[in-house]
Amino acid sequence: MSNFTQERVLSVHHWTDTLFSFTTTRDPTFRFRSGEFTMIGLPINERPLLRAYSVASASYEENLEFFSIKVPDGPLTSRLQHLKEGDSVIIGRKATVTLIIDNLKKGRRLYLIGTGTGLAPFLSLIKDLETYERFENVVLLHGCRRVAELAYGELITKRMQGNELIGNLVQEQLIYYPTVTRDPFRNRGRITDLITSRRLFEEIALPALRVEHDRVMICGSPALLVDTKELLTSRGYVEGNHGEPGDFVVEKAFAER
Ligand code: A2P
Repeated sequence: MSNFTQERVLSVHHWTDTLFSFTTTRDPTFRFRSGEFTMIGLPINERPLLRAYSVASASYEENLEFFSIKVPDGPLTSRLQHLKEGDSVIIGRKATVTLIIDNLKKGRRLYLIGTGTGLAPFLSLIKDLETYERFENVVLLHGCRRVAELAYGELITKRMQGNELIGNLVQEQLIYYPTVTRDPFRNRGRITDLITSRRLFEEIALPALRVEHDRVMICGSPALLVDTKELLTSRGYVEGNHGEPGDFVVEKAFAER
C-alpha cells in the first residue's frame, strides 16, 4: 500500500495575501489524533513535493482541513496557494506529533500558545472532547502581527459555541485570547510579554501561570519557541515528549524553507 493517498480539494479560503486554508476529502483509513501533523504535497515534474502540515480539523470530522502561509517563491506553497475546488493533493497516511495531551502531565488548565499558522494544531485540539475532559479551562492564545491575520476568530467564538457536540464545553471552558503586535486592537502585545507582565491573567481572570496547575503547548516560529521555553523553564516547567509526559510540549509551525 502506498504511503500516500490522493485527495480532492473541497474548498479554499484566503484570509489575507499571505494566509489561506483549504479542506479536502479524507481517506476512510486515515487516522490521526488531535494536534498531529502529516505530509501534504503536489506532484511536481511527476514527483511528489511534500511538506509537514498540522491537521486543523478534529479527528472525528469527515474532511481534513489545513492552514497555510503563502511564500511567493516557496517550492510548495507558491503552488498550493492556487489550489481550487476539485484539484488533487497528496496526503500522507501517517500522522505524527508532539502536541498531544498524552505528552502532558495532569493539570487544571491548558494554555495553547500559537502564533501565525501555529494555530492549526490547536484548532483540532479545541474541537476534541478529551481536551475538555482533561482540563477545567483551555486558554487559546493566538498572536499575530496584524488583525487580518487572526484567522478562525469567528469559528472559535461563534460557530464552535453553537456546535451540537461540544458547544456547551466551549462556552464553559474555552477562553480565546487573540492578540496583535502591529495594529490597534483590543488585545495588544507579544504573548510572552502578556504572560510576564501578568496582564493576560488579569484580563482572563485566572491566576498567573504556575507549574503546579498549568500545562502549556506551544506552536510557532523558532524565536517564539526559544523565548517561551525560557519563560517556562525559569518557572520550573519541564518539557514532555513521547517517553515522558511533562509540563509543556513544543512544535515548530511549519514555514516553508
Ligand atoms: P512582533 O510583531 O513583535 O515580532 P511572525 O509573523 O514573525 O511569526 O510573528 C507572529 C507574532 O508572534 C507577532 O505578533 C510577533 O510579534 C510574535 N513574535 C515573534 N517572535 C516572538 C517571540 N520571540 N516571542 C513572542 N512573540 C513573538
